[in-house]
Amino acid sequence: MSLKLFENCAFRGVELRNRIVLSPMAMYIADEGRVNQFHLTHYQKFAMGGMGLVVVEQTAVSRRGRITNGCLGLWDDSQIEGMRQLVAGIHHFGAKAAIQINHGGRKASAQRAWRGNGVLNDEDVAAGEERWTPEGPSDFPFAEGWPVPDQMSPEDIARLRQDFIATARRALKAGFDIIEIHMAHGYLLQSFLTPLANRRTDAYGGSLENRMRLPLEIAADLRADLPAEVPIFARISATDWVDGGWTIADSVVLARELKRIGLDLVDCSSGGNLLRGATNSNLARGPGYQVPFARQVREEAGIPTMAVGMIRNGAQAEEVLQEGKADLIAIGRQALYDPFWAYHAAQELGVDKDFESWPEPYGWWLQKWAANVRAPDGRL
Ligand SMILES: Cc1cc2nc3c(=O)[nH]c(=O)nc-3n(C[C@H](O)[C@H](O)[C@H](O)COP(=O)(O)O)c2cc1C
Repeated sequence: MSLKLFENCAFRGVELRNRIVLSPMAMYIADEGRVNQFHLTHYQKFAMGGMGLVVVEQTAVSRRGRITNGCLGLWDDSQIEGMRQLVAGIHHFGAKAAIQINHGGRKASAQRAWRGNGVLNDEDVAAGEERWTPEGPSDFPFAEGWPVPDQMSPEDIARLRQDFIATARRALKAGFDIIEIHMAHGYLLQSFLTPLANRRTDAYGGSLENRMRLPLEIAADLRADLPAEVPIFARISATDWVDGGWTIADSVVLARELKRIGLDLVDCSSGGNLLRGATNSNLARGPGYQVPFARQVREEAGIPTMAVGMIRNGAQAEEVLQEGKADLIAIGRQALYDPFWAYHAAQELGVDKDFESWPEPYGWWLQKWAANVRAPDGRL
C-alpha cells in the first residue's frame, strides 16, 4: 500500500509536493492590512517545514470587510508588494501559496482573537482600535451586544462582487498559486447562506437557491475572471451545528453548484454563526470531528475536499486519505505547536528515516544527533 500523504497531487496548473496544507489562520497582527515581518517569518516557516500548500489567513477584500484592525488586506494596490515578498518566501522553500479572501460581514469590527475575540469595547478604542459599522445580509447582529450591521443594498452587493474580483487579481499579481473564497464561519458569504443570519426578502434571501446566489455569483465571477490554470477553492461551514440553521445536506447542494461553476475543491470546516459555535469557541469536539463532512461532500457532490479539524498526527491524516474521505489535509493549531509537522509525520510513517527530507543544513546534523540521543524504543 503506497502512502498518500506524501504523494504529489495537482489542481489545474498547480502541483503540490504532498497533501499537507497549512490551514488558514488569522494572526490579527497587520496594520492597515499590510504584511510585516511577523507574517514573513510565520508563513515561510511552514514552507520550510515541508508542507505542500500554505494558505495565507483570511484577507480582507475591502477595508470595511476586515474582521479586526489587525487583518491582512488586499483592497489596495499598495498592499501587493508585501504579499509578493511573502509568496516569494513560501515558494523559495518549495511550497505553493494560497490566499483566503474574505469579507467579515456582521462579525466585523471585532477584537483581535487574543484580545478577547468579542466586540470592540471602549477600552479597545481608547487603546487605539478603530470601531466601524459592519455590513451584512440583514440588519440583524451576530449576537447580543454586537453592532447592528447595515443591510447591504443591491449596489453594495455589486460593489462587493467587484471587490472580490479586484482582490483576487491583486493576489495573482503577488504570485499566489491558488485562491480560496471564505464562505465559512459566519463571515459575510456564509451569513448570506444561513437562515440564522439572512432575513432578506429579495432575490438574495429566503429559499436555499436565493441564499446561495451571492456566494455562487462570486465563485462564478472569479472563475470567469481568473486564468484557467488557477485553481479556486472554497471554505465552507458544512453545518451551523444548530436546528434551523445551515445543514450538511445544504452543503452538498452548494458543493454541487460550486463544482458546476468550475471550482476545484471544497474545504470543509463548520460553525461560526453562533457565539458558542464559532470555529475557535467552546464547541465540544474530538480528533477529526469534521472529517465526516469532507467525506460526505466528496462522495455526494463529486468534488475534491480538504479535511480539517484536530487532525493531529501522520497516521490519522493518512487514514483519512486512504479511506477516500478527503484529498487534502489541513493542519491548524497542531502546526502552530509544531511547524515541522510534515517532517515529523514523514518520520512517523516511515517515509523519512534519516532526515533526508529535512532542509539539508539541518538533516546532516540531525542524523548524527539522532544516533546519539535515540531511546532504545526508537523515540527521539
Ligand atoms: C489562530 C487561528 C486563526 C484562524 N483563522 C482562520 C482564518 O483566517 N480562516 C479560516 O477559515 N479559519 C481560521 N481558523 C480555523 C482553522 O483554519 C482551522 O479550521 C481550525 O483551527 C481547526 O483546525 P485545527 O484543529 O487543526 O486547528 C483559525 C484558527 C485558529 C486557531
